[in-house]
Amino acid sequence: MTVAIIALVSGKGAPGVTTAALACTLTWHRRLVLAECDPSGGSILAGYLGGALEGRRGLGEVAVAELRDGNLEAHFWSQLVDLDAPKRERLLLPGVVDAAQAGSVTPLWQRFADFFVTLERGQPPFDVVVDCGRIQVGNPPWPLLRAAATVLVVTGARLADLSAARGAIRAIERDFTDHRVPPGNLRLLVVGDGHPKAEISKALKLPVIGHLPDDPRTAEVLTHGGTVRSSRPLMRAAGALEVPVHSLLDRRRARLTWPTAEVGHAV
Ligand SMILES: Nc1ncnc2c1ncn2[C@@H]1O[C@H](COP(=O)(O)OP(=O)(O)OP(=O)(O)O)[C@@H](O)[C@H]1O
Ligand SMILES: [Mg+2]
Repeated sequence: MTVAIIALVSGKGAPGVTTAALACTLTWHRRLVLAECDPSGGSILAGYLGGALEGRRGLGEVAVAELRDGNLEAHFWSQLVDLDAPKRERLLLPGVVDAAQAGSVTPLWQRFADFFVTLERGQPPFDVVVDCGRIQVGNPPWPLLRAAATVLVVTGARLADLSAARGAIRAIERDFTDHRVPPGNLRLLVVGDGHPKAEISKALKLPVIGHLPDDPRTAEVLTHGGTVRSSRPLMRAAGALEVPVHSLLDRRRARLTWPTAEVGHAV
């Protein structure tokens, strides 16, 4: 079973990146860490978890500790929140809470990216779902996007949403070309009502990997807290995304590892 970094990102607006990332984390059948790496801040601790935990916890604390003593790995595990206690199978790394924390995190994106890649090979292995926030605001966490096995560009399905997504896609493609990231890992994740998937894919020249329905009741719970039911349309659709996402990762991994193996034999 392929495990990997799966990054979610948007153009601008709030199409539902955090909601989608959380819904996937709560429904997929694999060990997952949801890392809130939106530079403009995390929202799950205060929202879905209702501020249930005392004190600061998460990415910002790991960053400060890493800058202090360079032991990111040890601090990382102590800063996670178990979303499915006591199983420790669905873990949250809460995002930053203020500008000072954001300042500590920015120089460490590459360090986090390198570390997240090692989680794929850990015992047990974890997938990392990364909420990267909006591309067109401030400074997105580029090293995490470049390290991701797949980047899901989350977009609404209306005309204005598509123009926001188009800008984000072009910015990502430019960056990936400049940094020699192998092509083919970008996909669209469409949220809500509007144009059909085929039209969106044609307009943005990118395959659509899935669709999450407009489901305000469930989204409200994921955003502000409460009990989420797996039978709700949003949770079912998020759960159903696991198959196309992982078959994409399996196909990409097979393609990317073949040439390496061949070179190895030739030498
Ligand atoms: N599938 C959905 N159906 C209905 N409402 C949704 C859905 N997904 C998200 N929402 C609602 O839209 C709003 C924005 O969602 P969310 O915070 O996930 O967006 P975002 O893209 O992460 O935004 P930001 O860039 O500000 O972090 C929230 O009020 C959320 O409840
Ligand atoms: Mg968000």
